[in-house]
Amino acid sequence: MDETISKPIAFLLVSSLLAILAQGNNFTSDFEVMWGDSTHATVANNGSLLMLTLDEASGANLQSYDLYQYGRLDMLVKFVPHNSQGTITTFYLSSNGTKQDEIDFEFLGNYGNKEYVVHTNVWTGGVGGREQQFHLWFDPRANFHNYSILWNPLNIIWYVDGTPVRVFKNYTLKGAEYPALPMRTIVSLWNGDSWATDDGKTKIDWSQAPFRSWYANYSASDCLVSNSTMSHLSSNCSSYPWFNKTLSSDEMKNLTWVQNNYMIKNYCNDTDTYPNGFPPECYLS
Ligand SMILES: *[C@@H]1O[C@H](CO)[C@@H](O)[C@H](O)[C@H]1NC(C)=O
Ligand SMILES: *[C@@H]1O[C@H](CO)[C@@H](O)[C@H](O)[C@H]1NC(C)=O
Ligand SMILES: *[C@@H]1O[C@H](CO)[C@@H](O)[C@H](O)[C@H]1NC(C)=O
Ligand SMILES: *[C@@H]1O[C@H](CO)[C@@H](O)[C@H](O)[C@H]1NC(C)=O
Ligand SMILES: *[C@@H]1O[C@H](CO)[C@@H](O)[C@H](O)[C@H]1NC(C)=O
Ligand SMILES: *[C@@H]1O[C@H](CO)[C@@H](O)[C@H](O)[C@H]1NC(C)=O
Ligand SMILES: *[C@@H]1O[C@H](CO)[C@@H](O)[C@H](O)[C@H]1NC(C)=O
Ligand SMILES: *[C@@H]1O[C@H](CO)[C@@H](O)[C@H](O)[C@H]1NC(C)=O
Ligand SMILES: *[C@@H]1O[C@H](CO)[C@@H](O)[C@H](O)[C@H]1NC(C)=O
Ligand SMILES: *[C@@H]1O[C@H](CO)[C@@H](O)[C@H](O)[C@H]1NC(C)=O
Ligand SMILES: *[C@@H]1O[C@H](CO)[C@@H](O)[C@H](O)[C@H]1NC(C)=O
Repeated sequence: MDETISKPIAFLLVSSLLAILAQGNNFTSDFEVMWGDSTHATVANNGSLLMLTLDEASGANLQSYDLYQYGRLDMLVKFVPHNSQGTITTFYLSSNGTKQDEIDFEFLGNYGNKEYVVHTNVWTGGVGGREQQFHLWFDPRANFHNYSILWNPLNIIWYVDGTPVRVFKNYTLKGAEYPALPMRTIVSLWNGDSWATDDGKTKIDWSQAPFRSWYANYSASDCLVSNSTMSHLSSNCSSYPWFNKTLSSDEMKNLTWVQNNYMIKNYCNDTDTYPNGFPPECYLS
């Protein structure tokens, strides 16, 4: 083929592909408000900034129009400052219905300057119980930080500012479960004081309301299954760079550092929850 023709054509193909890949970064056009009015889910900066508010009247919950199977999502989030005990700020993926598959990043408030707790979980067929919790190496109320979820057929990776904090591998061939159903992205701020802080013993202090969390500049690359305006399967999802991503050996070292220094709860050693043995993936590596 004549190079003078193929190069512009290749450029057009690449730029139209990028236009499709560059979904997101607009909370107005890409998310539907499921709970909360415009004073509790407030979009600013032409769609790039979202402020969620929780008070005694309401919290807020938004979900993406996109329904996808596998994806990589990056979200900048800044959490409720000061006495946020009992509040939960979330960024998670969930399938529809009661027997849901779900991949959770939830941020549990705390009182005073006590550390936020990062709560992660994996649900399959409506069953969770795969929690790992962490503290962070910075104060997540002071600034925006970058929280990412990568879900592909090989593994799920949770990142904080590019540092992997957890990996959940696909061990279905060895008898474990793995999220498979199409999901939407959900962000929310709600009253979770039945369990969020001190196992639910510390309740929300409503005198500190309104509570606010901020989300910004998210980016989404996902394998679209359907959306309110269209329905199709991504024909070439495997060409996404994250589609076969697993941790590099350097990232494994960073993960080990996080797990050794910041992990505060791991279902794979929680004998109170699992007195008769842990889920199968706990014995695999
Ligand atoms: C999905 O639907 C929303 C709302 O109709 C639209 O803004 C968005 O661009 C759609 N996404 C894709 C990938 O088509
Ligand atoms: C975000 O979406 C809204 C609603 O569709 C639109 O008015 C606005 O221009 C979009 N912002 C950007 C930066 O494209
Ligand atoms: C919002 O973004 C759209 C698309 O980029 C642009 O046309 C519009 O001028 C922007 N509006 C504001 C208020 O910046
Ligand atoms: C969830 O599933 C129910 C039952 O199939 C359906 O009525 C509802 O529209 C679905 N909601 C979304 C957001 O897909
Ligand atoms: C998990 O891995 C198995 C074996 O490779 C594969 O067949 C299956 O599709 C994977 N599950 C998902 C949800 O990707
Ligand atoms: C967020 O982190 C991911 C790596 O996990 C990186 O690819 C992305 O560029 C980061 N986004 C921002 C806005 O820093
Ligand atoms: C990973 O750990 C190395 C030190 O072992 C550090 O220099 C590097 O900044 C870390 N990278 C990330 C993304 O956390
Ligand atoms: C979002 O991106 C814009 C444009 O790059 C930048 O000016 C802004 O600081 C970013 N927001 C955050 C919270 O980093
Ligand atoms: C899918 O993407 C891969 C990698 O970019 C490419 O090699 C392959 O030809 C593509 N397949 C189709 C059907 O477009
Ligand atoms: C992912 O696929 C690319 C392109 O085929 C390959 O170069 C890379 O080694 C693969 N990575 C993993 C972790 O399998
Ligand atoms: C279980 O793991 C957590 C997180 O690493 C750790 O804090 C705790 O001490 C461990 N518990 C037991 C009984 O080993």
